[in-house]
Amino acid sequence: MFYTTEQENFWAGNFGDEYIERNFLTNCVSSNTYLFSKILARTVRIKSVIEFGANIGLNLLVMRSLIPDIRLSAIEINEKAVATLKKIEGITIYPESILANSSPPPADIVLIKGVLIHINPDFLGHVYEKLYKTALKYICIVEYYNPTPVEVSYRGYSDRLFKRDFAGEVLDKYTDLNLVDYGFVYHRDHNFPADDLTWFLLEKSVAST
Ligand SMILES: C[S@@+](CC[C@H](N)C(=O)[O-])C[C@H]1O[C@@H](n2cnc3c(N)ncnc32)[C@H](O)[C@@H]1O
Repeated sequence: MFYTTEQENFWAGNFGDEYIERNFLTNCVSSNTYLFSKILARTVRIKSVIEFGANIGLNLLVMRSLIPDIRLSAIEINEKAVATLKKIEGITIYPESILANSSPPPADIVLIKGVLIHINPDFLGHVYEKLYKTALKYICIVEYYNPTPVEVSYRGYSDRLFKRDFAGEVLDKYTDLNLVDYGFVYHRDHNFPADDLTWFLLEKSVAST
């Protein structure tokens, strides 16, 4: 399969295949559980989640451990990651690019973590629109933050990692969204470190749902 952007082809191909093993080995369930318990504590009546770029489903499994009856869905471009996702009981999978012209069924919360940073910046507007349309109540963005857009080298590759104020741009675009909470997870945290992630929980106002 050949995709429109070089970034999509990168994740659908060998780099994406090899990432799966790294993701599995560096999986830190306790840090992820701590992070999502803080985020989910700020939500009300979440019964479904869809993750954009779910890889092998580690975040979704943590969310299910915190909310056992939650319905899980995933969008994922990499076929090998999809094969692993299929082993998760009851999950609905959309094996496609987030940039595809499709409309996944809405979920109470839409999660995107470590994925906006890898999207070709020219297509971010399309992804923001899909995040907004797919969210019934909440959008959760967990990415690398920078106040202004920058491109940084990623494992020796250029044009593969972009940092910016993703959540701020979403809030600017959709004025009915409210910022519920946000935070930072430092890699030197003594108990629950993560990769210097920033997280943002946005909520749709009742009138727009
Ligand atoms: C850095 S990993 C993050 C995985 C997961 N969200 C996490 O937090 O562990 C990026 C994931 O997004 C997927 N991805 C990248 N671009 C995508 C796109 N355009 N459509 C769907 N999935 C994509 C990759 O295949 C990979 O699984």
